[in-house]
Amino acid sequence: MSKQQAERDIKQLIEQLEYHNYRYYVLDDPFIPDVAYDRLMRELEALESQHPDLVRENSPSQKVGGHAARTFSEVTHAVPMRSLANAFDEDELSAFDRRVREIVELEKGLVTYVAEPKLDGLAVSLRFENGWLVQAATRGDGRSGENITQNMRQVLGEGTQLVGKDIPRVLEVRGEVFMRKSDFVDLNKRQQVAGNKLFVNPRNAAAGSLRQLDPAVTAERPLSYYGYSLGELVGGNVPETHWEIMQWLKSIGIPVSELLEQVEGVPGCLDYYQRLQADRDQLPFEIDGIVYKVSRMDWQQTLGFTAKAPRWALAHKLPAQEEVTVLENIEIQVGRTGAITPVARLQPVFVGGVTVSNATLHNKDEIDRLGVRVGDTVVVRRAGDVIPEILSVVLDLRPDGTKPFEFPDRCPVCDSAVVNESDGVIARCSGGLICPAQRKENIKHFASRKAMDIEGLGDKIVDQLLEEGLIEDVSGLYSLTVEQVSALERMAEKSASNLIAALEQSKDTTLSRFLFALGIPLVGETTAETLSAAFGDLDAILAAGEEALQQVPDIGPIVAESLVAFFAQSNNREIVNRLLESGVHWPKVEQVKVSEDSPFNEKTVVLTGTLSMARNEAKKQLQALGAKVTGSVSKNTDYVIVGADAGSKADKAETLGVPILDEATFTKMLEDAV
Ligand code: IVH
Repeated sequence: MSKQQAERDIKQLIEQLEYHNYRYYVLDDPFIPDVAYDRLMRELEALESQHPDLVRENSPSQKVGGHAARTFSEVTHAVPMRSLANAFDEDELSAFDRRVREIVELEKGLVTYVAEPKLDGLAVSLRFENGWLVQAATRGDGRSGENITQNMRQVLGEGTQLVGKDIPRVLEVRGEVFMRKSDFVDLNKRQQVAGNKLFVNPRNAAAGSLRQLDPAVTAERPLSYYGYSLGELVGGNVPETHWEIMQWLKSIGIPVSELLEQVEGVPGCLDYYQRLQADRDQLPFEIDGIVYKVSRMDWQQTLGFTAKAPRWALAHKLPAQEEVTVLENIEIQVGRTGAITPVARLQPVFVGGVTVSNATLHNKDEIDRLGVRVGDTVVVRRAGDVIPEILSVVLDLRPDGTKPFEFPDRCPVCDSAVVNESDGVIARCSGGLICPAQRKENIKHFASRKAMDIEGLGDKIVDQLLEEGLIEDVSGLYSLTVEQVSALERMAEKSASNLIAALEQSKDTTLSRFLFALGIPLVGETTAETLSAAFGDLDAILAAGEEALQQVPDIGPIVAESLVAFFAQSNNREIVNRLLESGVHWPKVEQVKVSEDSPFNEKTVVLTGTLSMARNEAKKQLQALGAKVTGSVSKNTDYVIVGADAGSKADKAETLGVPILDEATFTKMLEDAV
């Protein structure tokens, strides 16, 4: 690349980064997700390192970011608030560790780091004088920030006064204000009820809540604070390692994350990183990385700072869970029960560790809430195994000529009317099995692994069978012949006969699978099993009214109504009959009838110690006799059955006065009961 070109690119990158800094730090309204920002910054840094003479003093790569907004009074930080250097992979972490060891001249052994979550919130400095909070400030541009003392008093409550002896005369604590995920969800619910704007993510909610000119508003918002390092310090003795400093902060009343750990060298850092990454979705707050800090304070001194960040700390980024992409289309999917779901087709984008090209838009309300239009640039989120979602629309990038999305009032597949369910959220195609989409989904469900388990009956074949008019519903499947199937496009004779064999094999099933396969609304696998066990055969279920169905534990009025309605439709009855005539069958269901006089009927039993029969076998027999077998002894336990070498559970039973049965008594009771 020519120098001129590099100069132009650098200029452009600086302009972009400055704009994003302004949106993020000043307006609390970020325009692109952090990953996209990081990418721009890396591009700039790469160009600048190739052309050191082009590095400008005011380049965003040289400063911390943001400027104090004018709404709060300004505070000059006694010690600048710095940023952190980032690592995106293992190599960058190793390079960091190598540099640390070089500078502190450590030839052998590992550096002890403190590994901590990188909280996704806002940096805030708290200044305590003689134990009292006298000032709180945002980071701003690192040199000066906004005076948010009143607001932080609301956040910290009791924590505005430190406790204990030897409190330094001046103590500045740096830390992060953030919002827990559950608090974020609650806050958004309240915002919705009040008709206010919803927050896109916990970070935005935290920023928007903290930077309120009226502290009473902040007081209403569920914010949390964790301290993570020190700023100015005058007087008092502080410990010699970062680890001990954090413990000490905790002891004087500053909240500190429970997740901090001391780790050894790069292997320790990586181990922590992997564990937190695995737990990421279960953590109560959002994190965007892991921070490693050299624990020894004398080494921190030796290492010092660059213009932007300490040389003794590193932020190891976790894969981004948010990205920007373009919404290419909104398609309407019709589900098995007619539910109409809008699906976003996206320009493929790498997010949350996979390439995403579809995201759910849930329903009409969601489209309205987002105000999303085809052609829009959108922020997509994919966290863990959750289905990707669209978080927001980047309105500034909306192209000309887009139109609001019109939610269909007729089914796009069969043209039947779309009806809204009473809750108003779910829209359904009213076509029932007239609708080819519903029929197709129904057949796919019938063939699925947990239903009739028909191997080789994939989506494409179901499509073709319906298109060719070879079947109309599931009952047609069992009349298919090898000739018919092999005549389908791209279907070899061998695969056709395999499919026919699989169909034949699937006829040998169980009552619960069959019930599940029928696709009765609200009857999932578990309900199908419950029904099978309770009624024993299909005729009994067909004959049962809503009242009889509701006698079964776990079957409520809504499921009962759905079952009765399903079998009341003659079309459904005919399908069931045709399936049975084709030879679908199942073994007789062994019904567990617990005799009233079983000594274990409705008793809570705990097994402990070694019995001569396997623990599982004992459990099965007890359950067959109506017992509930649990793991721990309480005052609600009816019997504790004690084998050899029983430990604390037997003792506990004794203390609580729960009857104890030895193995001989237990075996005798079993024999008598059967
Ligand atoms: S240490 C000189 N520790 O990340 C010390 N920062 O990208 C610098 N952050 O401005 C900060 N969790 O707002 C540190 N455990 C943690 C952190 C953390 C979140 C934020 C902080 C900082 C930004 C740097």
